[in-house]
Amino acid sequence: MMGDPMISKGITLTRHLLDDRTPIEGDLGALLIKIGTVSKLISREVNRAALHGKLGYTGEINVQGEQIAQLDLWSNDVLVDALKETGLVCTMVSEEMEAPLHVDRNCLPGSYVVCFDPVDGSSNIDINGTVGTIFSVRHRRGHGREHMAADILRKGTEQVAAGYVMYGPSTMFVYAAGHAVHGFTWDHTLDDYVLTHPDIRIPRQGKTYSVNHGNYHRWSEPTRRVVDYLSTPDKATGRPYSLRYVGSMVADLHRTLLEGGLFMYPGEAGEGKNAKGKLRLLYEVAPMAYIVEQAGGRASTGDERILDIEPSEYHQRVPIIIGSPDDVILAEEFYQGKR
Ligand code: AHG
Ligand code: MN
Ligand code: MN
Repeated sequence: MMGDPMISKGITLTRHLLDDRTPIEGDLGALLIKIGTVSKLISREVNRAALHGKLGYTGEINVQGEQIAQLDLWSNDVLVDALKETGLVCTMVSEEMEAPLHVDRNCLPGSYVVCFDPVDGSSNIDINGTVGTIFSVRHRRGHGREHMAADILRKGTEQVAAGYVMYGPSTMFVYAAGHAVHGFTWDHTLDDYVLTHPDIRIPRQGKTYSVNHGNYHRWSEPTRRVVDYLSTPDKATGRPYSLRYVGSMVADLHRTLLEGGLFMYPGEAGEGKNAKGKLRLLYEVAPMAYIVEQAGGRASTGDERILDIEPSEYHQRVPIIIGSPDDVILAEEFYQGKR
């Protein structure tokens, strides 16, 4: 019976995803349930890190040239094992693994590529700040190892699902799979996620902008002009916007998704390491762009739609301007010389 999808409040994530009224393809529901299950393990570990000596850094540097937190590695391994166990995931790309992981035995027709950031906002772990997990799901098209790169480096429009888990005052699972964006809150008594934010829609315009203002001196002229404009008082256009910045993309984007406004991680002027910004396309920017667009928002580099970008490398960085459609369009006008 194709009634409304299961989106009345109080429905658990498991029931929602397994119900035939929720328009989700094939094994995707089972895959998302697995990600939800493993996120509860990560949530528990985040909550107990200080008690378990899991704070701090391993002393190793990842492919990004960044310090690896203990929880980054632990969460990566837990996610890899869980995705392997599903039998559905043929290829994995992770912020914490230099090369993609190919799982031959899972590489059947209809299998998935999952790109993920096991712990986003790691610098917040040791100060008990909000962190998250970000994931992006797309189909394998070929089946052998030789087809792996071609299947990974595809536009964000080919994602079949994307989501994030936010380990904040409550743990939330937010996903989109082509129809709507739904948010679930972990109910410890049920030990399952319960639908609390059905059909999230981002406001057309917001009142906050979210960017690391400390990089102002490194930005290109258009970025500076966007931020100068948003922070200049003008009652008629609801300015100045308030600045909100957690330093964890999941936390900053969750606020932007619910309340509207703008999140930016722009590139820096010149040809340095951060010329394209800091955030990675496959497992941070593209999944978040997919989610925000399905909530009615917009995501671009300032010049081009994020989901139309054809990736060339696994850990490729892109500048991102994302959030309420009116706010992103306004920012784009500065980048495109219309303001
Ligand atoms: P990660 O911890 O996975 O490396 O991601 C951190 C990212 C993102 O979460 C956040 O928006 C950004 O880094 C903050 O960077 P700055 O500290 O340079 O502002
Ligand atoms: Mn991240
Ligand atoms: Mn990370």
